Amino acid sequence: MPACGDSRTGAHAAIGPAPRDVVGRPIVAIVNTWSELSPCHAHLRERAEAVKRGVLLAGGMPLELPAMSLGEVMVKPTTMLYRNLLALEVEELLRSHPVDGAVLLGGCDKTTPGTVMGATSIGIPAIFCPAGPMLNDRYQGRTVGAGTHTLMYWGDYQAGRIGDDEWVRLEARMTRSPGTCNTMGTASTMTSIVEALGLALPGSTSIPAVDSAHPRMAAACGERIVQMIWEDLTPRKILTRGAFLNAAAVQMALGGSTNAAVHMIAMARRAGVELDLADLDAMARRVPVIANLFPSGDRLMEDFHYAGGLPALMNVIRAHLSLDEITVTGEPLRAQLDGRAVLDAQVILAPDHPVSPRPALAVLRGNLAPEGAVIKPSAASPELMRHRGRAIVFDSPPEMNAALSDPAFDCDETCVIVLRNAGPVGGPGMPEWGNLPIPRKLLQRGVRDLVRISDARMSGTHYGTCVLHVSPESAVGGPLALVRNGDTIELDVEARALNLLVDDAELARRRAAWSAPAQPHARGYAPVPAARNAGARGCDFDFWPARRPARAGHLLTTPAPPEPR
Ligand code: FES
Repeated sequence: MPACGDSRTGAHAAIGPAPRDVVGRPIVAIVNTWSELSPCHAHLRERAEAVKRGVLLAGGMPLELPAMSLGEVMVKPTTMLYRNLLALEVEELLRSHPVDGAVLLGGCDKTTPGTVMGATSIGIPAIFCPAGPMLNDRYQGRTVGAGTHTLMYWGDYQAGRIGDDEWVRLEARMTRSPGTCNTMGTASTMTSIVEALGLALPGSTSIPAVDSAHPRMAAACGERIVQMIWEDLTPRKILTRGAFLNAAAVQMALGGSTNAAVHMIAMARRAGVELDLADLDAMARRVPVIANLFPSGDRLMEDFHYAGGLPALMNVIRAHLSLDEITVTGEPLRAQLDGRAVLDAQVILAPDHPVSPRPALAVLRGNLAPEGAVIKPSAASPELMRHRGRAIVFDSPPEMNAALSDPAFDCDETCVIVLRNAGPVGGPGMPEWGNLPIPRKLLQRGVRDLVRISDARMSGTHYGTCVLHVSPESAVGGPLALVRNGDTIELDVEARALNLLVDDAELARRRAAWSAPAQPHARGYAPVPAARNAGARGCDFDFWPARRPARAGHLLTTPAPPEPR
């Protein structure tokens, strides 16, 4: 008699098919990051049904497995704290269940790298099904979207030019439908990167979440994963160094989020590929920003889709790509790009007329960031690319917010605002606090940008002259911990330099007097990444090797694949 919990009785009795109907069919896990607290993923329950239809059509057996959702605007202190936990959850879901391949449903910022990291580590065939961007909307005759416009209008709200009721109306316009933020923020950057890596179907990432093409794309993911299982087309065979360099080229051409620097290095490490900040800086120097999308440009993802989407953009920069890389289609990238034309030259520009003369990313080093810091020059103020100013230093967001909202606060537009204790250990989790506020006094005078420096990250939808990811971070004694009010800081983006103009003897005295700040979170999961986070590894955990051996999978006991349909 079968034991209680025997998979042949419990599971199949619950889901319907008799065991004899399942034997010989690939079992496909649909890893779904849907939740009611993630508006970006509000439609993913329905999309899971579309994926199931595709799997069934191709002769597979679909099973949905929920995974943590990580809705960016709802999770505090930051979803980044939980990216590695999601990766761990996905890896263990796919290891512990009898499945042969996976369709990964995600899109809101960390769900993309988190699910990909987990699936790459376990090593069974996997395809990413992106949530898709939300729709554009209009406000007072202007097209508006999520993220970048929130920041633009927030300055007006803080300065008193927009009232409370108007702000509520505006918020509703900026978030019009289910789907991910429709600027080239972190969500669109990461889904585009995953498509460029070859883990998503060509052209899938820009399909608006509520377009009828979206469930068709989800069904196609379901059909394709079944064939990938028979072909044993695993992430390891797709995620080569060439694929990662392709993704880096795409990040630069898109003017993508600085967060990609963290996630790409983490994903590469899971695939056993060497990739570092120097690779990204070198690619940024070669590939100009040609996608006219917020925050570097002035269009939204819906426009990008109608302009031809990622295949059209990649075709424009194909001279920078490795075209022989294999994708989830089983074909080389070259086959997917041939003939993909730009349909709107106002949205995808020619490389000799880029959106900005400045690159999407610059990696800075100097005595303030010996292990590197990043900035997004294409979304920063040209006049601040070379700047020297007086430091105003804060140890926490509450202290900073209180001071900068004081109309009598001592500052001017040459000052450099510094926030510390906001890195992987200090936050903890490296929150997106890096778009430090402009002092209210300066906002009322019309100032909209200053040089701002932190060990935090910044939302990809945001813009400004913000130096981010300063490393080593201040909470572990990095040089940012030694800055004092009134010190002079020098930024030179062209020279890739960030320096604190204080002599070494004085810095040594300050270091001798420094002690680590107390950790604000002592319980739960938060202390784990704080203790075991490796910033130089894309903030991945330091306690396991890059990749574990692939597990056996259900099909080891099943017959050979059927003839192609
Ligand atoms: Fe989810 Fe922006 S908040 S994609």
